[in-house]
Amino acid sequence: MKRVLTILAAAFLFISPVKADEGMWLPALISQRIGDMQAKGFKLSAEDIYSVNQASLKDAVVLFGRGCTGELVSDQGLLFTNHHCGYDYIQKHSSVEHDYLKDGFWALNRAQELPNPGLTVKFLERMEDVTAAVNKGIKPKMTEEKQQALRKKNIGKLIDAAVKEGNGLKASVEPLFYGNQYFLFVFREYRDVRLVGAPPSSIGKFGGETDNWMWPRHTGDFSIFRIYAGADNMPADYSETNVPYTPKKSFTISRKGVKEGDFTFVYGCPGSTQEYVHSELVKYIQDVSDPEKIALRTIRLNIMKKYMDQSQAVRIQYSSKYASVANAWKKWQGEEKGLRKNKVVPTKQAYEKRFEEWAVGTRYEGITDRLANLYAARNPIYRAYEYYRETVLAIEKIQMSDGEEHSLKDYYQPIDEETFVAMMTAFDKALDDSYKPAYFLEKRAQYGSMEAWKDAVFSDSKEAEDLTAALAEFYAAKLFAQVSAFNWSINKVYKDYMQGQMEFENERTFYPDANLTLRVAYGHVEGYRPADAIYYTPVSTLRGIIEKDNPDIFDYNIPQVLRDIYAEGGHEDQPVCFLATNHTTGGNSGSPVLNAEGQLIGINFDRVWEGTMSDLVFDPEICRNISLDVRYILFIIKEIGHADYLLDEMSFAD
Ligand code: ARG
Ligand code: GLU
Repeated sequence: MKRVLTILAAAFLFISPVKADEGMWLPALISQRIGDMQAKGFKLSAEDIYSVNQASLKDAVVLFGRGCTGELVSDQGLLFTNHHCGYDYIQKHSSVEHDYLKDGFWALNRAQELPNPGLTVKFLERMEDVTAAVNKGIKPKMTEEKQQALRKKNIGKLIDAAVKEGNGLKASVEPLFYGNQYFLFVFREYRDVRLVGAPPSSIGKFGGETDNWMWPRHTGDFSIFRIYAGADNMPADYSETNVPYTPKKSFTISRKGVKEGDFTFVYGCPGSTQEYVHSELVKYIQDVSDPEKIALRTIRLNIMKKYMDQSQAVRIQYSSKYASVANAWKKWQGEEKGLRKNKVVPTKQAYEKRFEEWAVGTRYEGITDRLANLYAARNPIYRAYEYYRETVLAIEKIQMSDGEEHSLKDYYQPIDEETFVAMMTAFDKALDDSYKPAYFLEKRAQYGSMEAWKDAVFSDSKEAEDLTAALAEFYAAKLFAQVSAFNWSINKVYKDYMQGQMEFENERTFYPDANLTLRVAYGHVEGYRPADAIYYTPVSTLRGIIEKDNPDIFDYNIPQVLRDIYAEGGHEDQPVCFLATNHTTGGNSGSPVLNAEGQLIGINFDRVWEGTMSDLVFDPEICRNISLDVRYILFIIKEIGHADYLLDEMSFAD
């Protein structure tokens, strides 16, 4: 009896629609989900989210820079994004005299707002299904090469037509579901975007790497910019005569706050997910890729940390490099653990078995074996490819000898020398000699030790250049080329497998994997259980910042004025961050987090590390996005920045 029930439960699970709160939906197709959203508390309509006929919420969201999201918060082009998204620009404006990273920055008037050459924001004008136009003229009998060339030509035509008007229009055609569908995205790109405000790093990066990907979280991760336009409100190069851009739509801010269970949705540009892949890929990520990359990065981080702990100057030089190495390192740890805990590999294997039973006699028969075979053939090469990137190509000396731009101001040779020995050793140990250039084998014999080789490379630029050339050439010609060829073949099979999955689970509404295009994710405010007997509540407050405050630890040393404000009393319950079940990923940084009325309640900036396997499989029990409460932003603007005049141009719902 128990077995029968289990089978029934499994069968039910298997036909049920997308699990609670999973999914990153295309705004233009949100009508497919609007019923579910409304049942969960959403008060607006599909037209309010996305419309080409009238201003809608999409007109208040931008792709900020190359990989973040931002949102308009005034009718004068004022924009919020994360501190970590504005970081490079804040840093570029910083000097010893005005260290805006350390002290924060607040423009007191328009004239003080700082231009950022190269920084752009993109508004989505429209998106539409162009699958038929992309495939126009394609005949099944054509060779794959011919088909590709024809699609490329069709895409070129679509793009040319879409941007004909000029005025900053940009367009791209993106494959969805591995090319089963194509969407045209038309953007208007503004290129005069100025820095308006940023909190000191002790607020904007509070908790540093220690708290990154973690809850309880207290990071004030925001910065403020303003979009400028020509007199006609159209995109223009930077000019003193430009005026603040008037958006079609900007968000109304709600100060009502959130409580557990409240409906929330995130409107932004998630970068990349792989939700429909074969179990062999998940197995590779969980058993090989993540553990090996974590181990290699642990070595590099320990080397950096040793020198950073010894010298304040080195800490400043390497803090940004350390942060970027540590960010993925920590994410992978959560991903590996989450994949195991959720038994994702056996679950996918069972799914593939059911799929194959169903597929007998169809054109999908045997497709999962084909994928398994492709991965079996690709994995050793892919492993070597990843190893190159994480070991020898991570050595700064090699990067510099390869012509990569490196700021010598932020270079500390003892770190790089120790990294050289450690990474060359790891590389040599882990990979079979057939994955190494002949030059490497020769020199290894000649020097006899990595120490001796290091001395030569760091004292003789010819040695460095020759080694770099040999490694770079092997990497490009042998590894990168083969990996690309495999990926091409694999994606071709995925196009069919994806279609097969859609027919197999014909009750389910599928969402396309993230690809940095605009999406809507919806869920609700909720805590989670990271481990037995622990429940994390979903809202953090200023009280927690004071609990963590420690002048002796750099990441927890808050500005004195924050201590003083707290000591005055009355701010203990000031909300700082909150958790929700929205399905997000990298690129969603800076995304507006909205309530049931579509009002701004926060800014997305992270996920909890225990749930980072959501890039491969979403578990509503443990996957949480972390948002900054908009009321903490307002508090910091007022109390720390004394920039109340910014609040005057915002509009508030309550
Ligand atoms: N984990 C967040 C993200 O993936 C924040 C990263 C920046 N902050 C940091 N401490 N490294 O982008
Ligand atoms: N911090 C990430 C970003 O820069 C968001 C966190 C995530 O991966 O969800 O986009």
